[in-house]
Amino acid sequence: MSRLTVTTLQAMKLRGEKIACLTAYDASFAALLDGAGVEILLVGDSLGMVIQGRDTTLPVTLDEMIYHTRCVARGSHRALLMADMPFMADADPQQALQSAGRLMKEGGAQMIKLEGGANQLESVRRLAEQGIPVCAHLGLQPQSVHKLGGYKVQGRDIEAAARIRDDALALQQAGADMLLLECVPAALGAEISQKASIPVIGIGAGPGCDAQVLVLYDILGVTPGKRPRFSHDFVTDSGEGVSGIAGAVRRYVEAVKSGSFPADQHCF
Ligand code: KIV
Repeated sequence: MSRLTVTTLQAMKLRGEKIACLTAYDASFAALLDGAGVEILLVGDSLGMVIQGRDTTLPVTLDEMIYHTRCVARGSHRALLMADMPFMADADPQQALQSAGRLMKEGGAQMIKLEGGANQLESVRRLAEQGIPVCAHLGLQPQSVHKLGGYKVQGRDIEAAARIRDDALALQQAGADMLLLECVPAALGAEISQKASIPVIGIGAGPGCDAQVLVLYDILGVTPGKRPRFSHDFVTDSGEGVSGIAGAVRRYVEAVKSGSFPADQHCF
């Protein structure tokens, strides 16, 4: 079976069909998620924290991202495969192009996600010109955690919200095929999703986004320490139906599709 593509996901947005996305880091979980109907597998640099046990995503290298992307590619065959650009692998547009090329050629990624707003316009343009699908990650950008002073909700005041909205539309104009909004007020998530013609993935950005993503280990309840407020443990909250890990993933997909996730308690 051929994989879902940016055009498939674009058509889902037009039909008002919600898109389910989860992070994946290895072949076994990739196969399980793929079989459960997850439409986008994100090889996130969150692997630095949940796989490698680091405090932040900053130490993750391009070679490590390529290795995990290749593992996820081998385990899956349907979902669109998105890989994260690790910290400083896109310090300038030329480097971004080279790093994206490696993630695609060596890792098998179909789409590259990079963190940043207006500062990334030139890189997004260069990648788009080369036919590389890009997802631009706005709002809380974990690679800027030291500059932000922690993992905090972004876009709470009018000026900050306007900046995120303007950056989102400028990135779309520069050629981005998808946007990801992390930890922004639900009203801002809904507004950007309505204004943008490309799919908008939310994580802590409210139910108005076209797609939802969570870190796999958060929905499985195995996150060490405190789980983020925007997340949900679908294993403990098992309800009816299939049990175990596959059941939890199916419940997540169903909750995204029906719009019951995220609920009020997951929003800002
Ligand atoms: O690295 C990651 O997993 C991410 C998601 C949390 C959106 O960027």
